[in-house]
Amino acid sequence: MPRDGTNRLIETATAEIAVATSLEALDDVRVKYLGRRGSLTLAMRELGALDPAARRSAGAELNAAKDRITTMLAEAAQRLGRAALEQRLAAERADVTLPVPFAGDGRIHPISQTIDEIVAIFGEMGFVVAEGPHIEEDYYNFTALNIPPEHPARQEHDTFYLPPRAVHRTSQAATVGAAGDGSRLVLRTHTSPVQIRTMLAQQPPIRIIVPGRTFRADHDATHSPMFHQVEGLVVDRSTHMGHLKGCLIEFCRAFFGLDDLPVRFRPSYFPFTEPSAEVDIGCSRQGGHLEIGAGGDWLEILGSGMVHPKVLQNCGIDPAQYQGFAFGMGIERIAMLKYGIPDLRAFYDSDLRWLRHYGFLPLDIPSLVRGSLTGVSAA
Ligand code: PHE
Repeated sequence: MPRDGTNRLIETATAEIAVATSLEALDDVRVKYLGRRGSLTLAMRELGALDPAARRSAGAELNAAKDRITTMLAEAAQRLGRAALEQRLAAERADVTLPVPFAGDGRIHPISQTIDEIVAIFGEMGFVVAEGPHIEEDYYNFTALNIPPEHPARQEHDTFYLPPRAVHRTSQAATVGAAGDGSRLVLRTHTSPVQIRTMLAQQPPIRIIVPGRTFRADHDATHSPMFHQVEGLVVDRSTHMGHLKGCLIEFCRAFFGLDDLPVRFRPSYFPFTEPSAEVDIGCSRQGGHLEIGAGGDWLEILGSGMVHPKVLQNCGIDPAQYQGFAFGMGIERIAMLKYGIPDLRAFYDSDLRWLRHYGFLPLDIPSLVRGSLTGVSAA
């Protein structure tokens, strides 16, 4: 390529680099001149046809042009990169003095707030959150929890059954499918089936907390067909009743924010725990006014117990090696108690006035004095 040809090449490359506004456009310029079929590359390939003297001078010229263009490309890439970064920094600038987004409009529902508080307390104790399906197999909801077919607890749970399935799945549940219809689908009546799912999926040590929706065909002032529970499960080699008590006393006191809250364990019965205990907290009902933490009366807030050996066995865990404890509580109920919410039904009405009154701002600090405790029915 004659000298003025090389000069023209440098000139056009310079102009094209100057107008490239992105790294992609710049790369197009590189390919056009220095790529495998680039004009400079092709010109270099033709050097072989020249006689030695001409080849030497033309080669030096082309090499100089290549260096020049390479340098220009590198400089332009640096310039464009810097500009892109500055643009991003300007666009993504965060003004930390701005108010919390939507603080004026949105509220966190008391159910969500209460779940967050429970998860935070148990999180500190080393529990992790686990979840399971709302549509559950009869086997996980009942049978594996030592609630066999025809057990009265099945009636007490007011179960929503889904229509029988035409084809029984070949899961573990299908083995009881014929006699006990263990594969029939239900809307889970409690969060306890997640105990089973977790124990089948992982070996101990287990320490889970399971917040979620549950369903029972029951509807009045204190029952909703859809409600929320939180389940807890701990399984380890040396887990005992003392752990259950310590853990739940600690939780009750942290949740209600009362260091000296009286907590009582009352013998009870659940098919999936043995022994079982209902947990009550101290309160006073003087003059129809409920006061949590005061003496004189008791208020039931959750069910608990040591995991029944049969339940461990159903999950392939050897009860001679491992013990565990479990507990379950209704979220609406303890939210009503903590925040003085008098009527269960209002939880699901999506009434904005109610949400503004009982809801929480994103950075709200929980307190016991929200709303008014007067008139809470402490059933
Ligand atoms: N699943 C029980 C219920 O819904 C509560 C519970 C959970 C009791 C775990 C003991 C252990 O009433």
